[in-house]
Amino acid sequence: MSVPDSRSGGRRTVHVPVMLREVLQSLSLQPGLWVVDGTVGAGGHSQRILPMIQPGGHLIGLDRDATMLARAEQVVSGENVTLKQTSYSELDAVLDELNHPQVDRVLLDLGLSSDQLADDERGFGFQTEAPLDMRFDARQGESVQELLRRISVEDLTQLLQDFGDESQARRLAEAILWQRDQRQMNTASDLRTCIESVLGSRHKGSHPGTRIFQALRIAVNRELEHLEHFLDDVLPRRLSVGGVAAIITFHSIEDRMVKQAFRDASRWEMLTRKPLVPSPSEVRLNPRCRSAKLRVVRRNP
Ligand SMILES: C[S@@+](CC[C@H](N)C(=O)[O-])C[C@H]1O[C@@H](n2cnc3c(N)ncnc32)[C@H](O)[C@@H]1O
Repeated sequence: MSVPDSRSGGRRTVHVPVMLREVLQSLSLQPGLWVVDGTVGAGGHSQRILPMIQPGGHLIGLDRDATMLARAEQVVSGENVTLKQTSYSELDAVLDELNHPQVDRVLLDLGLSSDQLADDERGFGFQTEAPLDMRFDARQGESVQELLRRISVEDLTQLLQDFGDESQARRLAEAILWQRDQRQMNTASDLRTCIESVLGSRHKGSHPGTRIFQALRIAVNRELEHLEHFLDDVLPRRLSVGGVAAIITFHSIEDRMVKQAFRDASRWEMLTRKPLVPSPSEVRLNPRCRSAKLRVVRRNP
């Protein structure tokens, strides 16, 4: 559970920004730059970026989750800041509205914030009794509960294999849908119990629910589609020549997509030949960052 906090009018942020030092160094920030933080979250990275681009700079913070934007607003605000509830893949519309065609730096820190995970009403965390929702933007798309209501065992098996890397995907899919048919698949806790009954409660040092919940979250939020559109179509047009983009991923499919997109030498100069990863001491302090990979490129002329 997160802790109520009068300063934020809600709950205190528990999220710790990942690879903060590496991100700030990679972005080579200086006064006057326009920076997009496409996954602003609680503003952990942005609150350090904003002072480094003043005077004259502008920070655009985007997030699909209104709750996260409200948190970001507590730490980054003012006339040099634009915060908007939208996907980073909709950056075209944001820049058109600001009448500013290109930006100098882009940061994406993909996936889920610890604040969302700790939210006991959204179903992201398998430790909660919340309804199985997991949408970043509750105004769009279907919840995990709705997905599970209509999905076939074949499609669920495929989803668990592709996004969850689950070797027992068929068995797990059958168990989940059996429980659904008994009308007993409504909450995060129902799903966790089902996962544990098939896979046990520990696998290679972590709970298998971590991967399975992540797979369902990626599916309902169409996370790979947003990333693909951004990498192929939006970023190459909206980042200025000489501009720098830094992307942190937490899933092997996402990292592969970023790596492949950044291989295009006609567009990008790779600034990280191998991805940067968190230091052992960062992983010790914040174990959730252990799968993070940071790739950085500069836009070629
Ligand atoms: C790992 S958190 C970012 C944390 C942030 N860097 C910080 O330090 O506070 C990822 C955030 O991205 C948001 N998100 C996920 N997909 C998104 C998308 N397509 N567009 C915008 N935000 C997205 C999530 O709602 C979440 O708040």
